[in-house]
Amino acid sequence: MSKIFKKDENSDESQHLLLSGRSFFVGSSTSFTNDSERKLNTIAEGIVIVDKPALRWSDIIGLDAAKEDLKESLKLVTESPYILTDRVTPWNRILLFGPNGSGKTMLAKALATESEDTTYISVSSSEITTTYFKEPEKLVQNLFHLTRQHRPSILFLDEVDYLNQNDPNDQSGSTKRVRKEFMKQMLNFHSDSDGILLLATTNIPWTLDGNIINWFVKKLYIPLPGERARIDMFEFYLGDTSHSLTDDDLKRLGKEMTYVSGEDISSSVRDVLKKSAEVVHGATHFRRVVASPMTYPRHVVDDLWAPCPSNFPGAVESNWSDFPADKLYWPPISLSDLMHIL
Ligand SMILES: Nc1ncnc2c1ncn2[C@@H]1O[C@H](COP(=O)(O)OP(=O)(O)OP(=O)(O)O)[C@@H](O)[C@H]1O
Ligand SMILES: [Mg+2]
Repeated sequence: MSKIFKKDENSDESQHLLLSGRSFFVGSSTSFTNDSERKLNTIAEGIVIVDKPALRWSDIIGLDAAKEDLKESLKLVTESPYILTDRVTPWNRILLFGPNGSGKTMLAKALATESEDTTYISVSSSEITTTYFKEPEKLVQNLFHLTRQHRPSILFLDEVDYLNQNDPNDQSGSTKRVRKEFMKQMLNFHSDSDGILLLATTNIPWTLDGNIINWFVKKLYIPLPGERARIDMFEFYLGDTSHSLTDDDLKRLGKEMTYVSGEDISSSVRDVLKKSAEVVHGATHFRRVVASPMTYPRHVVDDLWAPCPSNFPGAVESNWSDFPADKLYWPPISLSDLMHIL
């Protein structure tokens, strides 16, 4: 289906965001349209990002209903607005809410990555409300202007609850003005919002102003993973890493690790690997072992070097950097390592 919203390809009007009194050039419409990779600049040192992320739907385990809902909503907003009547509000203002580390930010990034023809503008609400700006209103207005000019677009407000909080250190009043202008722009958004999906996240929805909560036409709860998703996540994050977990071990982890988030699972694997690296990097003695290399877990070789105590038979005083990387033995991750960390 052809896109209804075309970018102004002939315009050479440049976009500027006024931040801290400086003017940030974010590309003319022409160069923007010609850039097939849509690699734009990062504006304001990471506060506003117009680069497409590189996160795929397949990187997100579970959450199938939320994925489908987001895909459908974006499609309706960007491709089929004509089927909506004046009485039906498009699902173009979506709030993802749920516990920490449940995958809310990931969902927004994957939606942006997978919808290739859509511009993605991401704002860190925490950063934008804790940074001093000389002309805060202008910044926010330009942000919305940019989103409108480059539609079809997704405006992503991560951790939107920051826009609802008072900053006790805001002596200049800049934060207050940013928040006020955001609220104004959001509440006026419907007047010219064709082709734009405004997506926001929060893990503390109860702190949001009632008007703002109601303003979101769709609120999607993003839960902690269930048992099946937990098993899949452990498997996904263990990946090719050398480990000794059987299918039954994975099932046990999935069953017993209730109330853990996707973030807990990914960071548990990372933490175990970090500990293992600390053992190897801190060792003063190594011994030769018959084992599987990290990179070829199904092969067994007899020339790997494992850290060991100095009095171990065959111990050689040495340092991990004395061995080629592929000759170092990394102890496989075990069930108890993960149980211990979580
Ligand atoms: N469904 C999932 N599939 C795969 N990994 C996940 C999933 N959910 C969370 N993770 C892991 O947890 C990390 C954090 O996820 P994300 O930032 O999306 O959480 P969040 O819901 O936005 O949390 P917060 O409320 O704290 O901002 C991800 O980088 C990823 O490693
Ligand atoms: Mg998040």
